[in-house]
Amino acid sequence: MEFKHKSVLLEETIDGLNIKPDGIYVDGTLGGAGHASEVCRRLSAKGRFIGIDQDQDAIVAASDRLAAYEDRVTIIRSNYCYMANELHSLGIQKVNGIVLDLGVSSYQLDNEERGFTYRTDAPLDMRMDQRQSRTAADIVNGYEEKELYRIIRDYGEDKFAKNIAKHIVAARQQSPIRTTGELTEIIRQSIPMKMQVTGGHPAKRTFQAIRIELNRELDVLRESLDGMIDLLDDGGRICIITFHSLEDRIVKTIFRKNENPCTCPSDFPVCVCGKKSKGKVITRKPILPTTAEQEENPRSKSAKLRIFERRFSD
Ligand SMILES: C[S@@+](CC[C@H](N)C(=O)[O-])C[C@H]1O[C@@H](n2cnc3c(N)ncnc32)[C@H](O)[C@@H]1O
Repeated sequence: MEFKHKSVLLEETIDGLNIKPDGIYVDGTLGGAGHASEVCRRLSAKGRFIGIDQDQDAIVAASDRLAAYEDRVTIIRSNYCYMANELHSLGIQKVNGIVLDLGVSSYQLDNEERGFTYRTDAPLDMRMDQRQSRTAADIVNGYEEKELYRIIRDYGEDKFAKNIAKHIVAARQQSPIRTTGELTEIIRQSIPMKMQVTGGHPAKRTFQAIRIELNRELDVLRESLDGMIDLLDDGGRICIITFHSLEDRIVKTIFRKNENPCTCPSDFPVCVCGKKSKGKVITRKPILPTTAEQEENPRSKSAKLRIFERRFSD
C-alpha cells in the first residue's frame, strides 16, 4: 500500500524551527518525511538531519523520499524516547532543532492490516512498532473493567466509557475479542441509538484510547520532553504538534516549567532554589491550522503547534 500522509501545520513548523542551513535537525516522528523533506531542502551540504520513527513502513517510505539528500540524512528505526542515546552514538551532543508531529500517520490509520481503523475488519493490532509483542487485543481481553473504563474515559473522552468497558468485559467472557470488527460491534451496542446517528463514528474514541494506551503515547512524551530540551544548542528550537488535549497539556506544562523552573515561594525576595531557566516559550498560545488547512485536511482540525527556544544562561 502506498504511504499517503498530508503533513499538518507544515509551513508554521518549518518557520518555527528557524532553520540554519549548516545546523543539525532531528525529526522524532519521521512518518512519510513530509516535515523532514522541507527541513532537508533548507540544509546545506554541511547541515545534518536525523529522522527517527519506530514504524518500519515509515522508515521505508521516508528513506525513499529523502534519497536525494542522502549525504546529510541519517534514518533510524527507534522510539524518540531514545533520541539522546541515538544522537550520542552518532557523535552528536547538541542539535539546532527538533520536530515532533505526534500520533499516527494517515497511512497507519488507513492501512487495514495495522488494525488501527474501525472502518474495516482486521486483527486488533494497533502497534506503531511492529517489533513490540503486546497488541490492542491484549488490552481489550486482558485489562480489568475499571482500567478499560479509565482509558476510554481519559484518552477517548467518551461519555459512554463505563458502558463500553462493561460490554467489552461481558463479550470477552463468551469468547476473546480478536478483530476490529468485533470490537466495533460491541461498542455500537454500548451506545444509545440516537448518539450513533449524531455523534460521529461510535468506535472512534475507544479506538483512539486503546491506541494511546498500547503505544504509551502520553507516558513517552512526558518522560522524554525535558531530555529533548537538554539536547538543544543555544537558540535551538523544538516544535511539537499535538492532536489530543492531554498531549497538549503535557507540552504546555513542561515548556512552562523549563522557562520558569523556580520553586521558591512567591513572597521570597530572591531565588534561593537555584533552578535556572532553560529558555523561552515562543508560543504563548498554540498555533492552530488555518480554516483553509482544516477544510483541505480534516485530520488537522485538532492539531496544535507549540514551540520552545533553548537559551543558555550565563
Ligand atoms: C503524524 S505521523 C508523522 C508524519 C510526518 N511528520 C510527515 O509529515 O510525514 C507520526 C509518526 O510518528 C511515529 N511515532 C509516533 N510516536 C513515536 C515514538 N514515540 N517514537 C518514534 N516514532 C513515533 C509514528 O509511527 C508515525 O509514523
